[in-house]
Amino acid sequence: GKVRAPTHIISTISDDRGEEPCYAGVPMSSIIEQGYGVGDVISLLWFKRSLPSYCTKFIEICIMLCADHGPCVSGAHNTIVTARAGKDLVSSLVSGLLTIGPRFGGAIDDAARYFKDACDRSLTPYEFVEGMKKKGIRVPGIGHRIKSRDNRDKRVELLQKFARSNFPSVKYMEYAVQVETYTLSKANNLVLNVDGAIGSLFLDLLAGSGMFTKQEIDEIVQIGYLNGLFVLARSIGLIGHTFDQKRLKQPLYRHPWEDVLYTK
Ligand code: ACO
Ligand code: LMR
Repeated sequence: GKVRAPTHIISTISDDRGEEPCYAGVPMSSIIEQGYGVGDVISLLWFKRSLPSYCTKFIEICIMLCADHGPCVSGAHNTIVTARAGKDLVSSLVSGLLTIGPRFGGAIDDAARYFKDACDRSLTPYEFVEGMKKKGIRVPGIGHRIKSRDNRDKRVELLQKFARSNFPSVKYMEYAVQVETYTLSKANNLVLNVDGAIGSLFLDLLAGSGMFTKQEIDEIVQIGYLNGLFVLARSIGLIGHTFDQKRLKQPLYRHPWEDVLYTK
């Protein structure tokens, strides 16, 4: 019989051996000729299946809404400083990406994990939030530096509006909104932020689409796919900031002494 040499890599998402590359079994020609969008390509390469169009549209909305948030946020600031230090595109990009984490843009997975656990266990917002406080953990997906009760995040409203009219259920999002109502009773800036909105709504997408088993949903949440949406989206803006600084021929950045408290 044939002897198969052992392989060192297993790959299940794409194949470039034939006449044309395939994403999750779908040939490139179908992707182009049948008018697939970026949301469809993400569905194939991340979730290994074609998702319904309201889901791929939602993914695309997340990407568009999170592409940039001005020059002052952590990621753009790092990218700008790096580009002004004369570094190349990739260095400037990753310098910005490296700020994405639990405080900035990378709270989506934890928001999904904690909202799912609390909602599935039918915790009241009071029990959930106060339980987190006892553990000394800030609620991921809640709070913003500049957004507040009276200056809501438009991105969150747009995501919620789309989901309310297109998703079969928005159970997890409604739970997150109840949590927000409670946290807003504690402080004005403890709004549901864009990470929390995406995290809770993605739970609704996974559960409501009928395309994933319970085990698959648990695996997606546990592995942490969802921060990938912010990483991918914000790369668009960070690349833009790099080009902007180069175009403007900006010199080396040095932070002003006046803005530092030198103390012992
Ligand atoms: N849950 C509970 N309490 C909170 C939370 C939260 N998520 N955020 C702030 N607070 C409370 C705490 O009592 C905090 O006091 P502490 O420092 O003793 O914990 C108090 O508000 C003041 O907090 P600040 O540090 O002044 O808030 P800041 O404006 O610096 O924080 C931030 C903003 C980082 C977003 C914060 O709210 C947070 O950590 N949220 C959770 C992580 C998160 O969702 N990040 C994504 C933000 S959206 C984005 O980046 C695209
Ligand atoms: C962002 O999308 O970068 C923001 O929500 C964070 C910020 O501080 O404005």
